[in-house]
Amino acid sequence: MNENKTNINWFPGHMAKTKRQISEKLKIIDAVVEIVDARIPQSSRNPDLNEMIGNKPHIVLLNKSDMADSSITEKWVSYYKSNGIFAIPVDSKSGKGLNAFKDTVKTVLAEKLNQYREKGMVGKPLRVMVVGIPNVGKSSFINKIVGNSRAKVENRPGVTRGNQWFTVDRELELLDTPGVLWPKFQDETVGEHLAFTGAVTDRILDIEFLSMKLLQILIENYPKNLEERFKITEFLEEPYENLCLLAKKRGMVIRGGEADTERAAAMLLEEFRNCKLGRITLEVPNA
Ligand code: G4P
Repeated sequence: MNENKTNINWFPGHMAKTKRQISEKLKIIDAVVEIVDARIPQSSRNPDLNEMIGNKPHIVLLNKSDMADSSITEKWVSYYKSNGIFAIPVDSKSGKGLNAFKDTVKTVLAEKLNQYREKGMVGKPLRVMVVGIPNVGKSSFINKIVGNSRAKVENRPGVTRGNQWFTVDRELELLDTPGVLWPKFQDETVGEHLAFTGAVTDRILDIEFLSMKLLQILIENYPKNLEERFKITEFLEEPYENLCLLAKKRGMVIRGGEADTERAAAMLLEEFRNCKLGRITLEVPNA
């Protein structure tokens, strides 16, 4: 087992280009909506974003909230609120929570709307840039919110081809992120959390190592979920032994009755990703 395998650090070079592209677009947009994965709100964002967007009004969508622990999602909403940022829990797969989005944009941009009104610029749509690291559900969100009126706005002065503008309605337009906003692998936890959720491929990771880490987190924080799913009430000290317990519980054994820990590891990750272990959040806001 190679522990260094979770020490990922990809793509730093690409970020310079994305940063430049985002900062260029700031001139023509009114607000930034940042999509994060509600199960890992810290790891599923690029922490440099705040610096990139400066004073632009900022809304956070805690997406995939259907898979997250709702009590912790509420804590994230309060955390953001105390930092002056509106955060909304959403589920872009079903559309739940998305009806709050437009009103939140209007609330955040109330001053701007007043200015438009005073200048007689009635009907000027608000423009919002959507950003998020891969796999947080950016496309799902855009598809859901744009819905049937999915119409790309093109040939606008200052807007070059290839930019993805979408019309929500006459009052609101969305711009998909120019470039790709990568996560920032500041420490190994970020890479691990992204791998647990499937946001980064685990083909290059040691899945037994990864799933033992996940299992230990679940034993500490979500023992009831494990009990319900696997009917195991007591775990052991040693992570590998716990993986063996799971394997045996599921009848995953190889010749000689030895636990098939590789299969058990894949099973645990798959069940976590498909929410079969229940709604689980791995990151809580700092108090
Ligand atoms: P991206 O553009 O940010 O890269 O993400 P994308 O929308 O492609 O979504 C990545 C995966 O996450 C997709 O699953 C998508 O269905 C799922 N997803 C997005 N938002 C939500 C959400 O709020 N809740 C849940 N439960 N899932 C969400 P996939 O397995 O790649 O594809 P599929 O399941 O749609 O076939």
